[in-house]
This record gives sequence, structure tokens and C-alpha cells, in this order.
Amino acid sequence: MSESRQEVLSAHFFVESALTQLIERAARATGLFDESFSADIRPADPRFGDFQANGVLPFAKRNKQNPRALAETLASKLQSEPTLDGLAVISVAGPGFINFSLTPRFLLSWLKNFASETSFQSSAKHFLEGKRISIDYSSPNTAKQMHVGHLRSMIIGESIQRILRFCGASVHRDNHIGDWGTQFGILLFAIKKNQVDLATLQEPLEELEKLYKEGYALTKTSEEALNGARSELVKLQQGDAENLHLWQQINAVSYRAFDEIYAEMDIAFDNVWGESFYRDKVDRVYNELHECGVSEESDGAQVVFHRDVEQFKDQPFLIRKSDGASNYASTDLATVLFKVLECGFGEIVYVTDGRQQDHFQQLFLTVKKWFAKKHYPMPELHHVWFGTILGEDGKAIKTRSGDPIRLKELIREAIARAYSIVEEKNPDLAESDKQHIAKAVGLGALRYADLVQNRTNDYVFAWDKLLSFDGNTAPYLLYAVARIHAIFRKAQLPLFDLDNSASAFETPEELALAKKLVAFPFALKQAIDELRPHFICHYLFELSSLFSSFYNANRVLVDETDVKARRFLLCSRTLATLETGLHLLGIKTLHLM
Ligand code: ARG
Repeated sequence: MSESRQEVLSAHFFVESALTQLIERAARATGLFDESFSADIRPADPRFGDFQANGVLPFAKRNKQNPRALAETLASKLQSEPTLDGLAVISVAGPGFINFSLTPRFLLSWLKNFASETSFQSSAKHFLEGKRISIDYSSPNTAKQMHVGHLRSMIIGESIQRILRFCGASVHRDNHIGDWGTQFGILLFAIKKNQVDLATLQEPLEELEKLYKEGYALTKTSEEALNGARSELVKLQQGDAENLHLWQQINAVSYRAFDEIYAEMDIAFDNVWGESFYRDKVDRVYNELHECGVSEESDGAQVVFHRDVEQFKDQPFLIRKSDGASNYASTDLATVLFKVLECGFGEIVYVTDGRQQDHFQQLFLTVKKWFAKKHYPMPELHHVWFGTILGEDGKAIKTRSGDPIRLKELIREAIARAYSIVEEKNPDLAESDKQHIAKAVGLGALRYADLVQNRTNDYVFAWDKLLSFDGNTAPYLLYAVARIHAIFRKAQLPLFDLDNSASAFETPEELALAKKLVAFPFALKQAIDELRPHFICHYLFELSSLFSSFYNANRVLVDETDVKARRFLLCSRTLATLETGLHLLGIKTLHLM
């Protein structure tokens, strides 16, 4: 096989990029196009084909040539290219668009080539190979329990890290726990005031939350309490032994509670670099920003103004408080420096709610100015923000008493509700199977309901909707997976090792399903380009709808060996794609439901 042919075949996984390569190469070979030509491949109007190359028009315009004639020449060059053989049929349309349709033969060979989660991954890895990305997600604050507000960062962050890794990036999962913030001033003040012995508390986190609430209320009404809390925080930050000891006790209790939730949700981190991890790294930030003139002094505090940005003209970025204490911004600046200079990450992704947009914009602006002055390598920084989970009344979701819903309880309820559904649908299953299915369905439903939303939208949390077996939900997709497993079990056929006699697809349902399968890399690409997992959810839902249409209209277990083989091939690849996609969302799939 010639080198170029091999290159094109391996690139076939992502048809858009294979076509782009072929077209641009053919264009140059005609001698009529130069380097400035780009194919600009887009999905086509389905009446005319699968893809359309739109690049001829702007090129012709720039060079004052006839676009239609150029397109005709390029199309006939492409038709004579041996590498395009079987990839697509071509036609020229309108003023100079080139349409491509994938041939049944191409579809068949693609589906034979890309067979399983492993083979998808070994091709998808070319998307982000060589990138080193640190992703900061979950990142709750200690001394508090995790509540429903912490769900999205965990679920979205976990899915994004899986997708990035699958697409070849080297991913570092970091939990930037808030273990050094103002909450400790208040908490330490309240603990001392009430002479609480942390070691003897029955429900330490609950007690700490109460203490914090009381302390917080006090600081709002009493100047003395406010100053007390401030000085406890400064003492802690300066290394006071008693405060450090209390702080460690508080964190230990918190970490235990977080870890239970992570274990349940199957989430793990490479590092838990909380805010305190950077406490000896903030001085360098203050000094450098001051030295290079990026920061200034304002009422005794150190701030960075971005007067060049309308929105922040009168809103400085506070990086050190007037009492000398560090804050959220100081730590985040130190974090970027550490991750870029010490760890060599080229990209950092932050997953938090939308209310932190100002903070991250100011952080990124500050880094840009500072790193440019110091000639440090400039990282790519992304704030992956998300909307709020609403109750059925359309307001931020709360318990009846008005408190935030604890994550622990939400997870328990998801599994319990899924269990009753399993019990009702399948009372004869063994108890251990019921529990296993209930966990996968309950947690899967919780995750999917969140991920299926475009993350920047708010969404209404409704148990009935997310646990429904109809519609774009986890139970529906998990059921589709289990159903295909059952088809293979019943036919007593292996999942992947299919016989080779498959003939090219013929029926409209076969063709539609095959084309959808070939579009999986496009869904991956959209998800990584925008860091939005919902592209994968929508793809999976459409795929499983097309599978249903195919399965209802085309008998799979037929006598003709070639027809049977190609239909089982479609079943097998649909299964592999659904499972891969769900795993990328952090959802465990089932063989039996
Ligand atoms: N602890 C913060 C919170 O609960 C989130 C931290 C996000 N990460 C960061 N590097 N700022 O809102």
C-alpha cells in the first residue's frame, strides 16, 4: 500500500477530514488551486448527498475565476483519483458546490474497520494526541456537605475528561477543593466561641454546617464577630498551630464524606490539589504581578484592573485582601502558574457554575497580561460553565424546608426509584441482579438528564422524566443496549467475530443506520471542540431511533447468509457505538435489563 493511500485509510474514521485531505490534494494536482484553497466540508442537504464541499466558491471569487468551471475540473480530477474509489460519488451543484454521497461499499468497509470501543479509540486518539490538559472539576468546599449544586460539575467534568482522554489527550484530573477560604475564619471563630470538641461530634459535618451558619449570621450583625473571624483566618494562613490542627480535623471529616460520593459515582482524581496546596505559592504571584506592573494598590489591597474591557472598567480583580490574606483569585493565579511552569500543561479546563463567569474572565485576562510580560508559555484556558438545576416550580431546586438537597440523598433516591421500576417490570430477577440494574439505571438516569442538556442552559429536575423509558433518557438507551445483547444471545452469535459474507447495504433503513454509525466521530469532534457532551447524547438518541426503525422494518435472522451478515453487522456496530458513547458519559451499560 502506498503511503498516501494508507494515510487516507486511517483518516477515514473521520470522513470529513479524509474528504478534506483528498479534495485539497486533488485541487493542487489540477494546477488551478493554490495553498489558500480549503475544501470547507459540511453536512449536505440529504436530498443531494451526505457532504458538501463549499470551498470552491470563495476561492474562485478571490481569484476572479468561474466557480462552476473550477468545480467541474476538480470533480473530474477527484473521480479519476484512485483513493476516492468507493469513498463517495460526486456531483457538482449550483454555482460550484461539490456534493459527495457515501457509497454502500464504503459504508460496509468502514463498519468492518471500526468495530469496537478499542478500535474507535485507536482512531479517535488522533484528534487530541500530544495535548496535555488539566481539568479541574467537582472541587467542593470543605466543612460543608455536597449538595445538588455540586452535581453538575462532577457529572459534566467526569464526562468531559473521559471524552478528552478517549480522543487522545493526556488528561490530568484535579479536584481543586476549597479548603483555605473565608469559611474557615468564620468556622474557627464559631468553634472556639462555642468551645466545641470536634473529636466528639456524632455527625461532624452536620454540626459544622450549623456552626458555620451561626457564625456567619453573627458576622453580619456584630463588628466584633466579623473581626474575630478575620483574625482567625489570618492566624490560620500564618500557620498558627491550634488553628492548623482544627483545620486538619475539619478537612479529614469532609474528605471522608466526599470520598463516599466519589466511590458511588465512580469518580477518581489524579491529584487533589486544594486551595491550601498553593498557600506557599501565592507570594510569587503578588510579587510578579506587582513587578511587571499588572497589579496596583487600592485601599491597601492588591488588585488588577482590566480597564480595556468595558465590563470590568469599574470592577477590579481583587488578588490580595487589605489584611494580607489570600483569596480565591490569588490561589487560582498560583494554580495556573504551577500547572503551566511546574507541570507543563498546555490547557486547563475549569468546570463550575455560570455565576463564576466574571471570576474566570478576569483570571484569564490577568494570566494573559502577566504571562506575556514574563514570556511564560501561554496556556489555553477554558471555563466550562453550566446553568442551574431547577425544581418543578422553576426555581433553584430545594428541599421542602428550603435547604439545598444533599447529594448523598439524591443519589440514594435515584437508585431507590430505579429499584421500584425494576421490581415492577421484572419481579422474577435475582435480588443481586435487581440491585445491579437499579444502580446502573438510577445513576445513569441522573447523569444523562444532566448531560443531555446543553450545559449552559438551566434545566428542570423531574424524576418521572429522567427515569422514563420513552424519550431521550438513560433508561431508553440502556434498554436499547440490552435489547441488542439479547438479539445476539437469542441468535447464538458472537458480538464481533462476524462472518465476512456481508453484502452492501440496500434498504433505506440499513443505509440510514449505516450513515449514522459513520457519523459517530463527528459527534465526538463536536463534543471536544465545544466541550459539550450533549452532542454525544443527541447522537446516541438519534442512533437508537434509527436502529429501532431498521429493526422493525428489516428482519435480521433471515436465510440469505449475506443479508443476515450485513444486518448483524449493523446490530453489532450499533451496540459498540451506543456502549462507547454511554461510557464516555460515565454511564455503565447492562447486558440484561
Ligand atoms: N470551590 C469552588 C466552589 O465551590 C469551585 C472551585 C473551582 N475551581 C477553581 N480553580 N476555581 O465554587
